[in-house]
Amino acid sequence: MQSHEQLQTVARETLRKNDRGGYTLPTQGLYPFQWNWDAGITALGWMTFDPARAWREYETLFSGQWGPDHFGGANDGFLAQITFHQDSDTYFPGPDQWGTDSLAIRTSSISQPPLHATMLRWMWKEAVRTSERDKTLAPQRDMAEACLQELLPKVIAHHRWWYRCRDPQGTGLVVNIHPWETGMDNSPAWDDPQSAVLPTQRPYVRKDLNHVDASMRPPKIFYDRMVSLMDFNSACGFDPKRIFAECPYRVNDIGIISILQRSSIDLVALCQEFGLQDAAKEMQQHVDRTQVAVESLWSERWQQYVSRNARTGALLDVPTSAGLMAAYAGFQKDCADTVDSWLDETLYGIPSTRSTYIGFEPLRYWRGPIWQHINMLIAMGLADRGHVELADRIRVDSETLLRQQGFHEYYDPTDGRGLGGGEFSWTAATYLYWIKPNASR
Ligand code: GLC
Repeated sequence: MQSHEQLQTVARETLRKNDRGGYTLPTQGLYPFQWNWDAGITALGWMTFDPARAWREYETLFSGQWGPDHFGGANDGFLAQITFHQDSDTYFPGPDQWGTDSLAIRTSSISQPPLHATMLRWMWKEAVRTSERDKTLAPQRDMAEACLQELLPKVIAHHRWWYRCRDPQGTGLVVNIHPWETGMDNSPAWDDPQSAVLPTQRPYVRKDLNHVDASMRPPKIFYDRMVSLMDFNSACGFDPKRIFAECPYRVNDIGIISILQRSSIDLVALCQEFGLQDAAKEMQQHVDRTQVAVESLWSERWQQYVSRNARTGALLDVPTSAGLMAAYAGFQKDCADTVDSWLDETLYGIPSTRSTYIGFEPLRYWRGPIWQHINMLIAMGLADRGHVELADRIRVDSETLLRQQGFHEYYDPTDGRGLGGGEFSWTAATYLYWIKPNASR
């Protein structure tokens, strides 16, 4: 068992080791590029000991954002799931697979949960607090202000992309067109909608099994379908109208919807603070619409929000941790009692799939294991909503796992074993920003 100081040192070293000068690898080998939502969580970790580096993570991430000149301009504001700043041959599908060779910085062609306005607001609060605590650190606030002035228009463009391209009918519920966009790649919630996708016939070589045991990774048929969806996207020339209309996979993911909702709420606040009143009003309208629409995703059976197959209209009544971010998102029902029950059911919380569900698999990717950044978002949302004890229960579970096992990609909720990739950036960042006693909240 390591002391707090030791763990803090290891956490900082983990980020430094994964630092590629401006962006941080999630972990070496398995994930050799910059990932979208990983970058946001990881920036929080940097913020606790090297704020300039934290802002840099964001500048680098948004350097890969698509603009009006890319692929006809219809995807202006798009921010990719992966940005390929440098080549690597340890990952499939790498930079040459997505059909984006014409870009100065190649990217994948799908996105990921847009949590950035929330992360940026937390970083901003941290900079303001620090400079108030110690006047000699006032330059940190100035730096934060200058960075936000640059970044806010890009974040606004990104939110507009989500609402414009992924909810063209203005229903209040955006869709995703690839399970990897949800960041919860292999969740049992996608089993039904992805079964409608024809598996690719083209040969390709997976690389993930060189790093992690097959029992923890998705099966081949799943990968065949993921490749097929990737190829569909480039075959459409990335035309968002065509993709929305014809993609064989279209899902209202409660994870993306919750994260976008919270991020838009934080974006409204940041826009107001930075004098962008029109954008603030525009985002507020989206927030209001989603607030009502999300009630159609309520599961009576599981007492939580769930996802929906947007192609068939069928509710995907699968209890995953994505639906527990309700307090974080500010939805009408905060799901605190449901979180409490989940915590009673496994040795450690919060599993990515409820352990009483038939599809629960404690070792396999997003079918059971615990991800620490999800714990953080759920707990911080519950604390904001006044459920301080429950939030702390989650934090204590996370702290125990990290102390016992170190910074893994994910953890087995039934025995606490650290799994997947090691020396994982967002897990280390979660320790630095959230779990650490007296950490900034
Ligand atoms: C996996 C996860 C995804 C994450 C990425 C890098 O693909 O499912 O959420 O962003 O790894 O950590």
